[in-house]
Amino acid sequence: MPDNSQSYQKTISFWDQVFGNLPDFDPAQPLPHSGLEEALTWLGENEPRVLDFGCGPARPLLRAHYHGVRGGVGMDISLGAVNKAATIARTHGLEHNFEFIQGGIPELKKFKDGSWGGFILFNILDNLLPEHGRMLIEEVHRLLTPGGRLLLLNGPYLTEELQEKEMKDAIPLEKNLFLDENGLYFWNLSNGEIKNLLEPGLEVISEKEIIREEGQPGSRLFYGEKSKD
Ligand SMILES: C[S@@+](CC[C@H](N)C(=O)[O-])C[C@H]1O[C@@H](n2cnc3c(N)ncnc32)[C@H](O)[C@@H]1O
Repeated sequence: MPDNSQSYQKTISFWDQVFGNLPDFDPAQPLPHSGLEEALTWLGENEPRVLDFGCGPARPLLRAHYHGVRGGVGMDISLGAVNKAATIARTHGLEHNFEFIQGGIPELKKFKDGSWGGFILFNILDNLLPEHGRMLIEEVHRLLTPGGRLLLLNGPYLTEELQEKEMKDAIPLEKNLFLDENGLYFWNLSNGEIKNLLEPGLEVISEKEIIREEGQPGSRLFYGEKSKD
């Protein structure tokens, strides 16, 4: 698998800076949306160990501990992100349950097939180049144990009208792929395209919308489960 870190240098600088300035949070406190709390309850049902890829400061992963998740790994290409996550884990006595690793998709190769009971992909798939996004989902299929569960959260789909408004300062790279003014990729995936990526390796058992602001398009939350056979 090619090392893709060269394509993400601006991504790394951007998130290093954002997370370097992020105030601390308390993972014992609920996430600011009941739909996300419900989703973590589902993820934690079988007390799995969970891998959170593109974890950022790993608030959902650390919060998942209070919903049954025993522990796990957060992985992110930004060192600032994993340092922040590790500091929060230590402050709250969770450092023996969770480990944080700087890395991208090639680093997932070090984990064995079927070695994870759960996966979190929050706000990461649409920040990847399509070839890397497809590789990531193949890795999720490989790494989840039979019956293992995935929670995938993706930002809103931008219709052509919304693209003109939201992506006016971005560079279009190809249809539905943009490089924004911060140097971040935006891969605009419809619900059907996300389902096609996840299936048939995973069964999509539920799709929900997470609306944070009335009148604004919501984020899309997919619950996926790997077949038990
Ligand atoms: C929008 S943030 C989401 C953070 C976190 N998952 C959340 O929802 O709060 C995107 C994260 O993905 C990470 N990221 C972007 N490209 C990546 C890549 N190729 N490999 C690993 N992490 C990546 C960024 O460093 C950043 O922390």
